[in-house]
Amino acid sequence: MARTIELRSDNAAGVAPELMDAILEANVGSALAYGGDDLTQRLRDVVADVFEHPDVSVYPVASGTAANALALSALCPPWGSVLCHDTAHILRTECGATSLLGGGAVMTGVPGPHSRLAPAGVEAALMATRWGDPHHSQPSVLSLTCPTDYGTIYTPAEVGALAETARTRGLRVHIDGARFANAVQALGCSPADLTWRAGVDALSLGGIKNGVMNADLIVCFEPALAESLMYRVKRSGHVASKMRFQSAQLVRYLTDGLWLRLAEQANSTMRRLATGVEAAGATLLNQVDVNMVFAELPAAAIDQLLADDVLFYRMSDTTVRLVTSFQTTIDDVDEVVQRFQRAIAAC
Ligand SMILES: Cc1ncc(COP(=O)(O)O)c(C=O)c1O
Repeated sequence: MARTIELRSDNAAGVAPELMDAILEANVGSALAYGGDDLTQRLRDVVADVFEHPDVSVYPVASGTAANALALSALCPPWGSVLCHDTAHILRTECGATSLLGGGAVMTGVPGPHSRLAPAGVEAALMATRWGDPHHSQPSVLSLTCPTDYGTIYTPAEVGALAETARTRGLRVHIDGARFANAVQALGCSPADLTWRAGVDALSLGGIKNGVMNADLIVCFEPALAESLMYRVKRSGHVASKMRFQSAQLVRYLTDGLWLRLAEQANSTMRRLATGVEAAGATLLNQVDVNMVFAELPAAAIDQLLADDVLFYRMSDTTVRLVTSFQTTIDDVDEVVQRFQRAIAAC
């Protein structure tokens, strides 16, 4: 039987060994609960250091959805709307979590090429708003997904231009960074340049898709929001009593560049995979900036690949999504490319 190769999602990957070690090392003796422990205190300092921002506040939570909904609830009034791309995870795939935790705040989708917003699109949405009209939600936050749900990224200059457009009407700016490490690694930029220096107020910093077991992190760059976030995180049940195990992972994740090394494995194996499947005859449907590719190929080839134990999402009869992770190896990629070659050649 052929070896099973996992390309469904980076969520399907396991826990990075370094992060499992961090959990075990934290499992000694006892510690104060609810974030009063030393590791959680250290986490704030590590994040302040990595993001070069002394006044940062941090909130470990159990999922990317929680990070987004809580961060946005602090940034957006209940009558407000969050402008985001049409394809944004907060709009399409979080079942209205932001509206629930945001007291009724809504998401407004804005189109843009390559699943990314452009200043002109945001400007058009702002121009079309009936400001001050109580019959209409008032745009209050711009949320960028970086990387996007379709594997593309924004540069620091692009984030800066979008934030500047948003500021013309007083909007705050949030990044859904469920795969933020992949973006920072691909861009080779500083985390500060891609966030607060470009005008971002809060970041949902993913860890789970990149080797962390059970912690993502809200990173808030705006001290005025810290108190509100503290209560919101508690009221939604995200102040874990044994937070030290989440913090232990996030401290290790962000120390000595581990988060970027894990992302590098996912990004570089994806580059090799995308090149290989394209050479095998598949058509790539997205710009491959990080660890995700969408491809079109004959339906019969997709049937064959599934029969061949390649695990991926079939988006339609003739399209697939392939995602690499920190666990994907060059051997995995080369094996999958061979299976693509055989499957497509047989059609
Ligand atoms: C871009 C993006 N944001 C947020 C999330 C939400 O993360 P979670 O599934 O941990 O709630 C995901 C999950 O796939 C995602 O892809």
